[in-house]
Amino acid sequence: MIVQIVAVAAGLGLVIAALGLALLRVLRRRSIGVMLAVVAAVTVAATLAGVVAITLAMIIDGGPKNIVLSVVAIGGLVGLGVALVNARTVVHASRSLVGALERVPPSGRFTPPPAPLPAELQTISTALEQAYERLRLGHERERALESARRELVAWVSHDLRTPLAGMRAMVEALEDGVADDPETVKRYHVQIRVEVDRLAGMVEDLFELSRIHAGTLRPRLTRTGLGDLVADTLAAVEPLARAEGVHLTGEADPRVPVSADAGQLGRAVRNLVVNAIRHTPAGGTVVVRAVAEGTIARLSVLDGCGGIPEADLPRVFDVAFRGEAARTPGPDGGAGLGLAIARGIVEAHDGEIGVVNEGPGCLFTITLPLA
Ligand SMILES: Nc1ncnc2c1ncn2[C@@H]1O[C@H](COP(=O)(O)OP(=O)(O)OP(=O)(O)O)[C@@H](O)[C@H]1O
Ligand SMILES: [Mg+2]
Repeated sequence: MIVQIVAVAAGLGLVIAALGLALLRVLRRRSIGVMLAVVAAVTVAATLAGVVAITLAMIIDGGPKNIVLSVVAIGGLVGLGVALVNARTVVHASRSLVGALERVPPSGRFTPPPAPLPAELQTISTALEQAYERLRLGHERERALESARRELVAWVSHDLRTPLAGMRAMVEALEDGVADDPETVKRYHVQIRVEVDRLAGMVEDLFELSRIHAGTLRPRLTRTGLGDLVADTLAAVEPLARAEGVHLTGEADPRVPVSADAGQLGRAVRNLVVNAIRHTPAGGTVVVRAVAEGTIARLSVLDGCGGIPEADLPRVFDVAFRGEAARTPGPDGGAGLGLAIARGIVEAHDGEIGVVNEGPGCLFTITLPLA
């Protein structure tokens, strides 16, 4: 008898389970609430099927049969009720998550729904919060870069126009014969050559910077002695230091090997040293040091500029930053590209560059891993 009942109940149960699974498959894109209701209905139907099997086998009859049937029916209804309440909670939680998503402001900060969420939805909510934060930071960086680029274009076109206008005036004077005494003619020629050099340097810097920004600046790394690099740089800028009346000294450990592109790194160091010389008054001193400390190589340039205003310190490496409020280029005024290029080169070498005020001026430091 018991074998029969189990067989019938199991058979009916299997059929109902198969129907339930098929239904769930059809409904797999529907709400979790619907799925939970199907699960509850399958449970109730399978239980009822078992009871039907028992009554069919006539174990119980008459009054007891009705009692069993109604108890099972009530139990099923209670289960179904709980399942529906649960389904509502899940649906409500997922709606509140969607609502939070729809409320994300243009600034892009995702505020998770205040009500507690089931674990899986909570995980999604946390992941969304992080994704939005990353997106927001990316947008911010992009906006900053875009406005820097716009400023750069405005300033550079100004800086290109000013010397061009000067050169045009001189060329016209030479052409018309207005300037004809040999002294003035020679002075104009020298002046024009200086301006042409300056413009060529600026165009070169812009090209370098655009390569840095495009990420196409690939240093060709070879084992390079930082000491030799310092010596070469000092030799190259010595005439400028002499012209400006600045004492230039170098102190380099004999062995500070780094893995670097000597040409690029040399350019970065030269930008620092030229700045230092330009900002140090005549009679002042610029000291360039290269030392090995543990596993890092440290190159520093100390000048006598009298210090950079604290507020400007974090901005000196920004593209087109030049400190002074008036943006009229002086006779040797730069475009504010040198330090941005230096930083791009150093970072392409996995190094760091920074500046602090120290002693009579400021101290620029490049650190690189020792080779
Ligand atoms: N050694 C320094 N001492 C004092 N101020 C400095 C020094 N180096 C840079 N600065 C400040 O930082 C600004 C940016 O320097 P950066 O080298 O990027 O541009 P620049 O020298 O003005 O022009 P460029 O290098 O393109 O010819 C300078 O204009 C100056 O205000
Ligand atoms: Mg410079």
